[in-house]
Amino acid sequence: MSSLISIRQVSKTFGKGPSEVHAFGPVDLDVEEGQFVSLLGPSGCGKSTLMLMLAGLLDVSTGQISINGRPVVSPQTDIGIMFQDNTLVPWRSVRGNVELQLEMRRLDPKAHQDRVMYLLNQVRLADFADRFPHELSGGMQQRAAFCQAMVHEPQIMLLDEPLGKLDAMTRESIRSDLQKLWMTKRPTVLFVTHSIEEAVQLSSRVAVITPRPGRIDRLIDIDLPFPRDLAVKNSPEFVTHVRDIQEIFRGYGVI
Ligand SMILES: Nc1ncnc2c1ncn2[C@@H]1O[C@H](COP(=O)(O)OP(=O)(O)OP(=O)(O)O)[C@@H](O)[C@H]1O
Ligand SMILES: [Mg+2]
Repeated sequence: MSSLISIRQVSKTFGKGPSEVHAFGPVDLDVEEGQFVSLLGPSGCGKSTLMLMLAGLLDVSTGQISINGRPVVSPQTDIGIMFQDNTLVPWRSVRGNVELQLEMRRLDPKAHQDRVMYLLNQVRLADFADRFPHELSGGMQQRAAFCQAMVHEPQIMLLDEPLGKLDAMTRESIRSDLQKLWMTKRPTVLFVTHSIEEAVQLSSRVAVITPRPGRIDRLIDIDLPFPRDLAVKNSPEFVTHVRDIQEIFRGYGVI
C-alpha cells in the first residue's frame, strides 16, 4: 500500500535568471493516514511553499506529490486548510462561518447542524455560536477557524502556523483543543510551527527542515502516549526530544 501523502523529489524554484530563488527541496516524504506530522524549520525554508503545493495551489518545479495515489495537479477541495490569518468573514456569525465551508461544498448546513454544534462545543464556543468575529478574542477566532477547517470532516488537514499570533496561554489551551479533535477524528495533519515544544507535544512525527532551500534533515518519531498534557512536558523523553532538536537548529546557526 502506498502512503496517503507521497512527496517525491519535490522542489520549488521561484523566478528566473538573476532573481531566481531556489526555495525548497528536493524532498521525499511519506505521510501515513492518521499521522500528525510537524514541519519545523527556520523562516524562509519553504514550509508554506510546501503547504501550497500540497493543496494544489502552487505548481511544483520538480518531482511529484500524490494524495491517495493520485497526483496533485489542481486545487484540492476535500482537504481542510488553515493559515496563520484566520479566514472568518466578518459579516457572518461563528456558526455562519463554519457553515460557509459546507455551503461552498454544496452540502446542506441544516443536515449538519449537530456536527457544527459538536465541534463548537469541543472548542468551548457553543455559547458564542451566534456572535460575530469582532465579538470574539483572537484565541476564540482561531478556535472557530479550526471548526471551519474540520466541519467537512477532511481526511487531511494542512495547518500553517495556525497558532502563530497567539499569546502563550491561549496557545496552550488551543493546542489541547486541537489534540483532542485530532484524537477523536484522527485526520492526517501537516502542521507548520516555529515552536519546538509545540511540535514535540502535538506530533507523532517531526520533520526537521534545513535553512533555504529547505530539505528534510531529520524525521523524528515522538512515541509518547496521547493525550500529552502539561505533565508530559516534564518527562525525560519530552525534554530529550526538545533538546536534540534545539541542537540541530543551533548547528544551522538559527538559534
Ligand atoms: N510567490 C513567491 N515568489 C517568489 N518567491 C517566493 C514566493 N513565495 C515564497 N517565496 C520565497 O521562497 C522562500 C520560502 O518561502 P516560504 O514562505 O515557503 O517560507 P516559510 O518556511 O514558510 O517561512 P516562514 O517560517 O517565515 O513562514 C522565501 O525565500 C521566499 O522569499
Ligand atoms: Mg510560512
